Amino acid sequence: MTAPTISTEALRELLEREAAVTVLDVRPAAERAEWAIPGSVHVDAYDALRRGDPTALADFHPTNGRRVVTVCAAGKTSMLAAERLRARGLDAVSLEGGMRAWSLAWNTAELPCPESTAWIVQLRRTGKGCLSYLIGSNGDAVVIDASLDPQVYHRVADEHGWRIRTVLETHVHADHLSRARGLAADTGARLCLPTTDRISFQYAPLNDGDTVRVGSAGLRVFHTPGHTPESACYLLDERALFTGDTLFLAAVGRPDLEATTEQSRSRAHVLYASLQRLVALPPETVVLPAHTSEPVAFDGRPISATLREVQQRTSLLRETEETFVSQILTRLPPTPPNHHRIVALNEAGTLPDDSTELEAGANRCAVA
Ligand SMILES: [Fe+2]
Repeated sequence: MTAPTISTEALRELLEREAAVTVLDVRPAAERAEWAIPGSVHVDAYDALRRGDPTALADFHPTNGRRVVTVCAAGKTSMLAAERLRARGLDAVSLEGGMRAWSLAWNTAELPCPESTAWIVQLRRTGKGCLSYLIGSNGDAVVIDASLDPQVYHRVADEHGWRIRTVLETHVHADHLSRARGLAADTGARLCLPTTDRISFQYAPLNDGDTVRVGSAGLRVFHTPGHTPESACYLLDERALFTGDTLFLAAVGRPDLEATTEQSRSRAHVLYASLQRLVALPPETVVLPAHTSEPVAFDGRPISATLREVQQRTSLLRETEETFVSQILTRLPPTPPNHHRIVALNEAGTLPDDSTELEAGANRCAVA
């Protein structure tokens, strides 16, 4: 007997409309600790299912309706789990491709930009923690840090009656494959990137102090090197700050990717200066980063905070330059998987045939 499967997109839609469904994660506890589907329940049944133990999942009962979606790393053990549950008469299906495929799942949150014509949609790649943005004003839109299939941005822009005119990146990403070039090519939009000689395709370069127009709103460019040499932040109508991987809600960007130990140290000094510029902005400025370190719930609540809140939560922002540099270099998390290869592809502006293997794993761009 083979159990039916459900695609990532179909499960995403079920969760988005809060349908009654129990998502059952059967992976080993250590794998689940890395990343999980929001609202899922966990039974560490991996070994028992693999060895055909008849008691595996015997005690499991759905908690949200009768329908169950079983999940594992790649969709094989979850199939065994779904078969086992179906034999008990439950309506169980297996998530096709498992957590690897779930990496591309997404949801959205909406937020107005105070005292501005602009409206912001935060697109959250819940399966990986990448945050991208669609900003509309007077029918025109700009996308920042596209990490999802271009069709997703088209769909959300259409729903708002916007036309995507410009595509921006905050920096050359190391944890996900950029979809910015493909999105710009699809839409005929202008592709704008912070000035760098790392990129081998055509783009419109942005420099500190430039302004990118979207409808009647404007995004002012802040060159904020440190996480990477070209990193930039964008300030929307003096109210909302898109910080990329320079500043998170309770952490700062790591300065060591694609860098030697000495380069990491000098980048940490440069990052300190960049962050000083940002924290000098008004404390009520809304901070919108490019990543979160937790799976994003299907709750429509934006992942954002005021600059005041970010300063309160981020002890590194209150240190002297010397302490900041020494602490950041001792607290570096493990490097993201496959980052050399992802950076090389992003510099070349190309996508592999299958990105799921390369992009597997949590993002790790922050130092708390
Ligand atoms: Fe990054």
